[in-house]
Amino acid sequence: MKNILILGGDGYLGWPTAMYLSSKNYKVTVVDNYFRRNICKEKNIESLLSNPDLIQRSNLWYKLTGKEIKVSIGDLTEISFMDSLFNGKIKLDWGNNNSFDLPDTVIHFAEQPSAPFSMIDSEKSNFTLINNVISTNNLINSIKKFNIKAHIIKLGTMGEYGTPNIDIEEGWLNVEHNNRKQKFLYPRQASSIYHTSKIMDTDLLWFAVRTWKIKVTDLMQGPVYGIFTKQTELNENLSTIFNYDEIFGTVINRFLTQAVIGYPLTIYGKGNQTRGYININDSIKCIELAIQNEPKNGELRIFNQISETLSVNQIAAKIVDCCKTIGISAQTSNKINPRVENEDHYYNPKYQALKDLGFKPSLFNEEIIIKMINEILKYKKNINESAIFNGVKW
Ligand SMILES: NC(=O)c1ccc[n+]([C@@H]2O[C@H](COP(=O)([O-])OP(=O)(O)OC[C@H]3O[C@@H](n4cnc5c(N)ncnc54)[C@H](O)[C@@H]3O)[C@@H](O)[C@H]2O)c1
Repeated sequence: MKNILILGGDGYLGWPTAMYLSSKNYKVTVVDNYFRRNICKEKNIESLLSNPDLIQRSNLWYKLTGKEIKVSIGDLTEISFMDSLFNGKIKLDWGNNNSFDLPDTVIHFAEQPSAPFSMIDSEKSNFTLINNVISTNNLINSIKKFNIKAHIIKLGTMGEYGTPNIDIEEGWLNVEHNNRKQKFLYPRQASSIYHTSKIMDTDLLWFAVRTWKIKVTDLMQGPVYGIFTKQTELNENLSTIFNYDEIFGTVINRFLTQAVIGYPLTIYGKGNQTRGYININDSIKCIELAIQNEPKNGELRIFNQISETLSVNQIAAKIVDCCKTIGISAQTSNKINPRVENEDHYYNPKYQALKDLGFKPSLFNEEIIIKMINEILKYKKNINESAIFNGVKW
């Protein structure tokens, strides 16, 4: 089985992906510097669920399954640390050093993932740019320097495209100009510094693919929702980080948590903003499909990784309806939009390529919503209402 290196393995997506791949007998190593859990603690917006650190979680995973998820703790913006993952000098904090093999696939989750965080002030904005762009550049350079043939799977975001008034293609656009044709990266127009950092990542990767013939899959993913996977459900201490605050909580996770405590769902502006969404289990399956179906050397392959498109009003209405079904009275409240974004816009992204590889999307339907509400209800007493809205403005 392939050796998989997961950068950002302590995060919302990284940890459940690590356990899923380990359960499928991939050899998995996770890397993280605990930025996410530390900043949440500092800002008093901690995860709803208990999340022991990576060493404790890997230890527990090993006890329950007999499978090893190796751990290396460090900051990927440091060149020597990134190099250590590819030059045979890795320092493992958990797991057997002698059995570490160089990766066949690197999944790069390790970024500052929040648009509002990147817009708080100049310091957070600079941090986001430096952390995200430099970690990506370090990864490219280490792969090149040590002549590693690994496939990079990079998490991008649908937010890179913005909301253009034409259909959104999967990564590329054929342009005809003055009777000549060329395929270009689809135009990008971000609406936050975070999204801008992801565009810069894509540009770096495209440069490296053209120049050094590395192989890359860039996944343009929409906001992810969901709380549990088959593996996190094995034990409470294997849960993933679940945020419901305005900074790190994605909209569906946040709305469902608000509904559970009777906090009106905070719709920004008119609520017509439409985006592509995906369940956490679907997100992990798409990543596995990307691992199994490698691009060629010198290819930048881009997939739009979403299951469906929904407006904020549609999300809120579905949640309010499901709450009614199970006897919870949920309401909505329109807030002055703190973001600069189009509230009425055309939105028609293509998302066929992953389906062509076998992806079967699950939709944000009554069954999933009620299951999530019931799961969140179990932790109702831990919900910190003051974390929900702090008014970060663009
Ligand atoms: N969650 C979503 O809805 C979503 C949607 C689209 C794209 N993405 C992208 O997916 C990736 C993962 O998202 P997530 O929600 O799991 O975020 P997350 O914050 O939970 O996970 C990222 C992890 O990377 C670590 N990290 C950050 N900088 C690091 C560094 N310099 N060195 C080492 N570790 C570092 C963090 O500590 C964290 O554990 C991100 O790149 C994000 O932009 C996420």
